[in-house]
Amino acid sequence: MPVKTKIPTGSATALKGKKDLLGTGQALWKKAKTMIPGGNMLLSKRPEMFLPEQWPAYFSKAKGCKVWDLDGKEYIDMSIMGIGTNILGYGHPEVDEAVHQVVNKGNMSTLNCPEEVNLAEKLIELHPWAEMVRLARSGGEANAIAIRIARAATGKEKVAICGYHGWHDWYLSANLGDDKSLDGHLLPGLEPQGVPRNLRGTVFPFTYNNFSQLEKLVKTHDIGVIKMEVMRNQGPQDNFLQKVRKLATDRGIVLIFDECTSGFRETYGGLHLKYGVNPDMAMFGKALGNGYAITAVIGKREVMEATQKSFISSTFWTERIGPTAALKTLEVMQKEKSWKQITETGGTIRKGWQSFADKYGLEIEHWGLPALTGFTFKSPHALAYKTLITQEMLKKGYLAGNSVYVCIKHTAANIAVFFDALDPIFGKIKECEEGRDLMSLLKGPICHSAFRRLN
Ligand SMILES: Cc1ncc(COP(=O)(O)O)c(C=O)c1O
Repeated sequence: MPVKTKIPTGSATALKGKKDLLGTGQALWKKAKTMIPGGNMLLSKRPEMFLPEQWPAYFSKAKGCKVWDLDGKEYIDMSIMGIGTNILGYGHPEVDEAVHQVVNKGNMSTLNCPEEVNLAEKLIELHPWAEMVRLARSGGEANAIAIRIARAATGKEKVAICGYHGWHDWYLSANLGDDKSLDGHLLPGLEPQGVPRNLRGTVFPFTYNNFSQLEKLVKTHDIGVIKMEVMRNQGPQDNFLQKVRKLATDRGIVLIFDECTSGFRETYGGLHLKYGVNPDMAMFGKALGNGYAITAVIGKREVMEATQKSFISSTFWTERIGPTAALKTLEVMQKEKSWKQITETGGTIRKGWQSFADKYGLEIEHWGLPALTGFTFKSPHALAYKTLITQEMLKKGYLAGNSVYVCIKHTAANIAVFFDALDPIFGKIKECEEGRDLMSLLKGPICHSAFRRLN
């Protein structure tokens, strides 16, 4: 029997008197799973990824770096911040005001919105190597668009990839193995059921910083496109990006940088600007509209013109909120120098984790850009420790785990109080390393882990 849950939509006061503070969200999550396959639309937001059976699951309000659950309980978000969508914090007043004006004047019409041209111009200004732009509304779409354009431009089907590039057939086909009964898993955790088997052998993953592996792929297969994240967990070594660029140029391969996550986190634009290596195409998503749906594909004219040899067209790519939000977000980012702020804050967070690791004699490994910083305990119990942190920090009013997508509303004061709260939990983990029963500390199951990355 599905659980009948009344979903509170009002303010915290309307919810007064609720006894079980985590109950409403978890009850709704159980109901959701009876109607929505997987429970929601994004793997990374499943409560099981954080704290099975205890995570508040749904929000009623979000502002700055704070989130309120369905029972009106307030949390400071020291976790995925909408999975990296809100560098300026939730509900930024200037971005929201620009969106309100669009809502008042009209979001949709038979005519096109001028903001899309202004946004294209702005993205080209920030990336002078690019000359043309297409807009979309999700990162996966932008990636699919880029692949279609690049294949049309080169006339070649085979693609070498490194990183995460969305859910579409072209990408998941990397996981179609040779054996029909047992599909291979080059990207563990991503299931290719439903992807046509005849796409097998069109996409070849390579490991970040492994140039000889990529070179071999390019030589063995007739690779026409290389698509990769500029950096995810570790930075480039031994001129990796420069070597990839040269290989692509020498062989007439279209080089695509997927900047959906890395964009605007360390530079005002793509992370490739930092390394001085220009691709032939790049995609932006996530933070571009500070929480409003907008993504972009930018590229050199000779490649982007191939769009017209194909058919790439969609109704809601013409709505007005996305480009309006992006234009205002870019303006505020520039004013705030947000990429500098979040890089500095991320560095402070990283140091904080390390200081606790040193204090308690625990070994941790750091990963990610400073503004998307994370760590893992070097222990077979790493996932259980992460779960323990989430469980204990939730009680103290934090959404937290072992990584933070930093926003400009994560102030020094926020960070200091966060670390005060975290200190005794590292202490407990130390006790567990010395033999304390970890499972007796956990009130529910251990969290699930995401798919394993190649970069
Ligand atoms: C590098 C990269 N590309 C593409 C995507 C897919 O974007 P979306 O979830 O908006 O479809 C993501 C999302 O995490 C990403 O990190």
